[in-house]
Amino acid sequence: MTTAIIGGTGLTDLVGLEIIHKRKMNTPFGETSSPIIHGRYCGQELLFLARHGAGHTIPPHKINYRANLWSLKELHVQQIIAIAAVGSIHPDMHPKDLVIPHQLIDYTYGREHTFFAEGLSEVTHIDFSHPYCESLRQQLSRAAQQLMLPIHTQGTYAATQGPRLETAAEINRLERDGCDIVGMTGMPEAALAKELGLCYASCAVVANYAAGRGSAEISLAEIRETLHEGIEKIRRLLEQWIALETG
Ligand code: HPA
Repeated sequence: MTTAIIGGTGLTDLVGLEIIHKRKMNTPFGETSSPIIHGRYCGQELLFLARHGAGHTIPPHKINYRANLWSLKELHVQQIIAIAAVGSIHPDMHPKDLVIPHQLIDYTYGREHTFFAEGLSEVTHIDFSHPYCESLRQQLSRAAQQLMLPIHTQGTYAATQGPRLETAAEINRLERDGCDIVGMTGMPEAALAKELGLCYASCAVVANYAAGRGSAEISLAEIRETLHEGIEKIRRLLEQWIALETG
């Protein structure tokens, strides 16, 4: 099974990834965020794509999600582990914690969010009741348990538009809606993966308490600092997941 890792903020490159080649991809929807790396990680061949561009220059609402997902499908990817930095809404979720969401709510707008827009022979509706691939979620949870790595094995992800962070009142609303974590890139990525029939799961790392939930103003410097440690956990989790997959 061919796997792709989509790296988010704090994971524009995967340390330890041995690069076999890099491929610049053009699609009917334009170019991907960055060249797609075909590499070897812990002995396993996989693809890696930096969602915000190799130099972390593309903001969440400008990412060409359609080109990214289309290219991965073209390269015969069957499953995707999407890494995402998030803010925590749920009181039990703290900076540096890992969360494997099981549900999401989409609050984004104005993004190119579907492949089923033009040239259709008939109107298409995909089933999106369960946005994440359950088998891949379970595998990631099992890998974390084997490592004794504390992890939240479910959570509802709120996808917000950005690039600004939320107001405290918006976060209160997201909580009333049932959201546990908030990020800006989960949609339309998950829906596009579903449209292409790809198995897609996300591993979120908590970068900060969401607006109005922590004691201090949220700064990018603080987010980066926190992510540094959180991402280290992601690397360990990926290594263990590969060991499970190939073992
Ligand atoms: N809100 C939205 N997206 C985020 C946050 C946040 O607090 N932290 C990291 N990504």
